[in-house]
Amino acid sequence: MTQSMVAKHSMWPRKKDIIFNLSERAQKAERAIGKDNVINGTIGALMDDEGKLITMETVYNEYKSLENKDISAYAALEGQPDYLEAVKKICFKEYLPEGYVKAVASPGGSGAIKLATWNYTNEGDELLTSDWFWSPYVSITEEIGRKVATYKLFDENNNFNFKSFKEEFLRISSKQERIFTILNTPAHNPTGYSVSDDEWDKILDLSKEVAQDKNKKIILFVDIAYIDFAKDDNGSRKFFSKFSNLPENVLVIVGFSMSKGFTAYGMRMGAAICITASENVAEEFYYACVHSCRANWSNCNRGAMSLLSNIVKDQQKLKTYTEEKNMHKEMLNKRADIFVKEAKKVGLPILPYIDGFFISIPCDNPMEVSEELTKDNVYAVPLKMGIRFAICAVSEEKCKIAPSIIKNALEYVESQKSLNI
Ligand SMILES: Cc1ncc(COP(=O)(O)O)c(C=O)c1O
Repeated sequence: MTQSMVAKHSMWPRKKDIIFNLSERAQKAERAIGKDNVINGTIGALMDDEGKLITMETVYNEYKSLENKDISAYAALEGQPDYLEAVKKICFKEYLPEGYVKAVASPGGSGAIKLATWNYTNEGDELLTSDWFWSPYVSITEEIGRKVATYKLFDENNNFNFKSFKEEFLRISSKQERIFTILNTPAHNPTGYSVSDDEWDKILDLSKEVAQDKNKKIILFVDIAYIDFAKDDNGSRKFFSKFSNLPENVLVIVGFSMSKGFTAYGMRMGAAICITASENVAEEFYYACVHSCRANWSNCNRGAMSLLSNIVKDQQKLKTYTEEKNMHKEMLNKRADIFVKEAKKVGLPILPYIDGFFISIPCDNPMEVSEELTKDNVYAVPLKMGIRFAICAVSEEKCKIAPSIIKNALEYVESQKSLNI
């Protein structure tokens, strides 16, 4: 018998992360045949047209100008006070909801998801998110004995499927005290969908309806990891004001991240922000989260906190940062436009894209399609129900030719399947 040491609850399937694996293969191909001949649509970070990681000057100049002590010293467990203020400002802009809004620092948006799911669900609980979703939601929650249930994100006309959302929401509320829902919007990963203001109204009306039963606890976790790359900076934040004056048993937690908006992926900085009409619920949030911080990672990256605070505090720095970010956003929008246009032209069905880093193509055999694409030196991530193409990492020129290559691969795999090969 082979020796095993790991505890039972820590035995997971020994599979390599599929995204990193494909990304390695893409890089190998780039070395072998040259970058111009490879389309690497696997990476979830903003890359320039030459395939180099974009790092914002305003962010890194600020970071490098910090005194050593601003990077080196321990930070407060809940995050530095000026950071927490800066997070609220940059997150909500003009749409700060009324009520008690309290933030606790976390290592990235991932840390915020951990804080929220750990502190607001019980062991064995089902959490709800859409059927197209960022897979670490499962890793983060299954590690602590929770399960992810899904509703169908789109109906047959590719509209937001509120009917399915409602069915699942009510199913969970009929059997559980807690209904914890993760909504990744705007600029959803992997589809690029953004929930509209009208759809938010429906979601909130349903939450209020269920909240009439005072034994129920409704938690809406809004994952805004990509908000800074939504086309309309202000428009995409309007929904925040809808969180004012909700019933006391409806709690909103926003998952803020510096990874994308500040090209600070490796700095691991974010925050969980609660919005509630109850002072007690806000205070409870704070103490529960600070306990988790202490118990898991202690304090967060002080240098990253300082840089955000300094940029947000200073009007001129904020302006320069915003201009730099908007320039990159412009680049992303052009890539998205050309991909969507070409997809339509060649008849490649894609999911409704509105904002963000990714476009998804629904298909029956994602693994085979992804593998078939590699023969044309195109790399895209196979998901359960389709393929994810990272426009954030691929030049406009390549975004123009990718849809027809994907269409061909899809058709080829389908024809092989129908021949039963
Ligand atoms: C949907 C979604 N949420 C949250 C995150 C969290 O990112 P981080 O932990 O780097 O802030 C990511 C990162 O890829 C993401 O795609």
